[in-house]
Parts: sequence; structure tokens; C-alpha cells
Amino acid sequence: MPRHLVTSALPYINGVKHLGNLVGSMLPADVYARYLRLRGEDVLFICATDEHGTPAELAALEEGLDVAEYCRRQHAVQKQLGEAFHLSWEHFGRSSSSQNKELTQHFARRLDAEGFIEERTIEQVYSVDDGRFLPDRYIIGTCPHCGYEAARGDQCENCTRLLDPTDLINPRSAVSGSTNLELRESRHLYFKQSLLAGEIRDWIDTQNDWPVLVTSIAYKWLDEGLMDRGITRDLSWGVPVDRPGYEDKVFYVWFDAPIEYIGSTKEWADLDPERRDWKSWWYDADDVTYTQFMAKDNVPFHTVSFPASIIGTRKPWKLVSYIKGFNWLNYYGGKFSTSRGVGVFMNDAIELLPADYWRYYLMANAPESDDSNFTWEGFATAINKDLADTFGNFVNRCLTFTRRSVGSSVPGGGIAGDAERELVTELEKRLRAYTDNLDAKQFRKATAELRALWAAGNAYWERAEPWKAVKADPEQAAVILRTGVNLVRFFSLLALPIIPETAGDVLSRIAPDVPARWPTDVAAELEALGPGAPFEVPEVLYRKITDDDIEAWRSRFGGEAEARATD
Ligand code: MF3
Ligand code: ZN
Repeated sequence: MPRHLVTSALPYINGVKHLGNLVGSMLPADVYARYLRLRGEDVLFICATDEHGTPAELAALEEGLDVAEYCRRQHAVQKQLGEAFHLSWEHFGRSSSSQNKELTQHFARRLDAEGFIEERTIEQVYSVDDGRFLPDRYIIGTCPHCGYEAARGDQCENCTRLLDPTDLINPRSAVSGSTNLELRESRHLYFKQSLLAGEIRDWIDTQNDWPVLVTSIAYKWLDEGLMDRGITRDLSWGVPVDRPGYEDKVFYVWFDAPIEYIGSTKEWADLDPERRDWKSWWYDADDVTYTQFMAKDNVPFHTVSFPASIIGTRKPWKLVSYIKGFNWLNYYGGKFSTSRGVGVFMNDAIELLPADYWRYYLMANAPESDDSNFTWEGFATAINKDLADTFGNFVNRCLTFTRRSVGSSVPGGGIAGDAERELVTELEKRLRAYTDNLDAKQFRKATAELRALWAAGNAYWERAEPWKAVKADPEQAAVILRTGVNLVRFFSLLALPIIPETAGDVLSRIAPDVPARWPTDVAAELEALGPGAPFEVPEVLYRKITDDDIEAWRSRFGGEAEARATD
């Protein structure tokens, strides 16, 4: 049986992620993994925190914590938040794990053995007072082009010109502010990925079904000429470089982070002896379809750099089968910003409303063909119109009316007529569209089809007028009510990948014993709950978002004005 490996870009350890991070990688990966499981596929959904690099070190410093302790705590926070959003990872690992350390070192050794590693000596800025080398962006000074006083050594934020740290006037350390800086020589490992440029291009050329967003970014990088890449850094926090003379160095975070997809799988396997064959997911794994989810800034690393690390081993490590890339989700047309506190973060969101509200809104507005925009007004519309008025209302009106008319079990009697046959025809067409969009990983369109399915149920109920039939024709009424209760089940089942909490709750009340399997035969689905099947009526599923809520949240999280001010 074919198997499905699903990964989402690994979130940086420093800080709680915002809705833009969620919609661009972790959430769609989860929706897809849940969909595949419902289809009966064998799925391994892997994620982890990306823990190395200077940003983690500095965040720890700011909180007065040892970096390992900082990462341990932040990992726990991110794991707990992911679970609160119902992200159904098989494992949520840590790039600082011993498994990743061994694999990262193994990959570097393989690349070396195949002639892809070279030592080079380079000059770097050393901060005497900090007792460390400084990465370019941790050197601050005055921009020689525009005079901006807080330009970073890699780029001036004000005039966007690319810089070299030595271009800066009055350079100082971003860590301590010290100006006691000097140039020192340091030896590093370089990965000669330029040698693999042709092979990578050939491989990209065969990916005819990948989104243009993804292949165009890959080609842009390849066209600009693939540069050899320094894969070590003068830092203490990271995967140690197991090579004489490299005792004070670690691998570059972008070298070890994607290897953690494999490392996290090994972590998962090490938790249970039954999973000993973990490597079959990654090595000689022709039966595995591997799908990656990420935002567009991550695409170069996943189309070019990580594949180069894999191809360069000259061993059959698994290459990605399909990359789903996302554009940006903006906040009122501006950027979500951690440092300026603009936008909505996962901890705030889950404190305001349950996960399904966010999951639904984000999938309905996924930034797929273009960037999309989060607004509280748009959020309220999606929740009130789609979740509350369309799905929630259907569930409650159907079950409540049925209970009031015939009691809390599915009525028998009557035979389906034209109205039901028409309904089945329409649902078949829409189910096909919904399924096709999920297969194509087109989440925005898929969510629109789900909404259309729910709306078709409401329209059937309106047309059938069970409130009249109950009085005039009990047999006819039985057919409508039976169809209605089965529609509730059918719609909940289809909604499981996107809103697993509420849809799962409805299913547990009306069909606790019917296995949740992706439907194919609509007519059969509408008879899944036969005469006599008992059901419970859930509480109102969704609360409406009011104008007062919108106003309160806009002022709490920053509205239009704040977001624009950051442009
Ligand atoms: N931490 C990176 C980001 O948030 C993503 C790393 S993906 C990996 O942009 F594959 F490198 F792990
Ligand atoms: Zn400048």
C-alpha cells in the first residue's frame, strides 16, 4: 500500500507563531493529513521546532535563560499550542535532538566523502567584548548610502540596499553595543552545491504538477547561479561539527533544520519499538509520497538547498514529491509583526475562540493564488455566515425539528422521491469537486465547496418543507427527516479535516458507532443511519461574532492604522 509522508516547515523556536505562520504551513499540512487518513491512507505527519541559530541565542539572552532551557520551554509552549489547534502530528520533535545531531553529522560526512565539502578561510567580524564572532545582521551601524543609523550589516532596513558589515560607519555589536570589533580569520566548511546545479535543475524540470509559485522561485535561484554555501558557523549553540579544528563551531541552522524532518521521524520511532522501520519512510522509499507545506520564503531552501544535501549524499534518501507553497497572509494590508505586536498570535487566538473558528476562516482565506488579508470584519463574516448560519444552523434546525416531531431517533417509513434523487445528484457533483480540490491541495477552493455542500442541505430542507409534511403526510415527513439527520452526519464527516473539533462532536452524538471513512457513494451515505438510530442534539455549535467584538479586538490587536504605520 502506498504511504504518505507529510511535513510542514519547522517553526522557529523563538516566540509563539502568528496566524500567518499557521496558515502558511502547519494548518494546511494538518488538513491534508487528516483528509488522507479519512481516505484510509497510511500517513506520517511530522513537524518540529527549528531551534538553532543566533535568534534563539539572543531571545534566550533577553529572557535571562540558558539557551537550552529557553528552547526546552518554548518547545513545550509551541507543542501545547499546536495541540490546542488540533494539529495532528504523529510527532512534534526538536531540531536540537540527539537524533538530528547524528543525522546532520552523517549527512555532512557523506557530502564530504562524495567530494562536495571544501574548507575555506574567511574574514569575519569578531566582537572582543562579547567574546564571539558576530553574524552580519548582528552588526549595526550607520548606512553609507542613506545615513540611517540602525542599519544591519547585511542590509539597510531604511533604503533596502544590500550591505557588507565593513560598509557600515561606526559599526557596533547588536548583542552588547560594543564598538570594540575587529576582523579575524576563521575556517569554515563549504558545501559545493554549484556542482549539483545541473542535477537539481533536471529534477525540478520533471515536476510538472508543482505549483508555478514554487517552480518559479526554484528557477529564479538556479538562474542566478547556485553559490557554494558555508554550512558552519562560529557559534556554540547548534549541531557540533565533528572534525578536528572545528571544536568551537556548529553547523549552520539552515543545514541542520531540514534534516530534522528525518531526525523528528527517528525521534518518533525511538519512542516505540514497533516503529523500528522508520527509515523505510526516508530511504529507498519509492512507495512513499512525500508532500511538504511551507510559505514562499521557505521555497528556495526546499527546492534547492535541502535537495542538494540529499542528492549530494549519492544515497537513496527521499526527495520531496510535491511542494505546496503559500503566499503571505497580511494583517489589514500590513505585515504581521512579532516585534511590534501587530496581528494575532496563536496563544491570543485560542484564548478568544476555539480552534475551529480559526481553522475554518484560515482555510477559507488561504493565501494561495495571491497574498490574502486578515481583517476582523472578514473573520466575523466567515464565522457568522458560513459556520453559524450555514453549517451550525443546519445541524441544529434539522436535529431539533426531528426530535420535536418524532423523538430522538431516526424515523422509518416512506420512500425517497425526486427531491432526494436531485439532492443526491447535486451532492455527488459537489463531493467530487471538494475531493478533487483536497487532492490538489487547493484549500481555499475546497473550503468553498464544503460551504456549498452545506448550503445545498439547507436548500433541500427549505424546499422539502418538513414542517408541512409532518402534518399532511407522515410518510413523506419520515423521508425528509431521515435524509436530514443523515445529511448532518455526511456534512460533519466531510468537515472533519477542516473543523475536527465541532464536526467530531456532532458525529459522536449522532453516529458514534459508524466509522468515519471518506464517503464515495452519496446515496449510501444518506442511508447510513437507518430507522431507529438514536441521536443527541448538540448545543449551538458556534457563537456569533458581534460588532462589539470586532471593535474590541481591533483595538486590542491593532487595526488598520497600526498595520499601515509599519509599512
Ligand atoms: N524555521 C524556518 C522558518 O520558520 C523553517 C525551517 S524549515 C526546515 O522559516 F525545513 F528547514 F526545517
Ligand atoms: Zn540605507
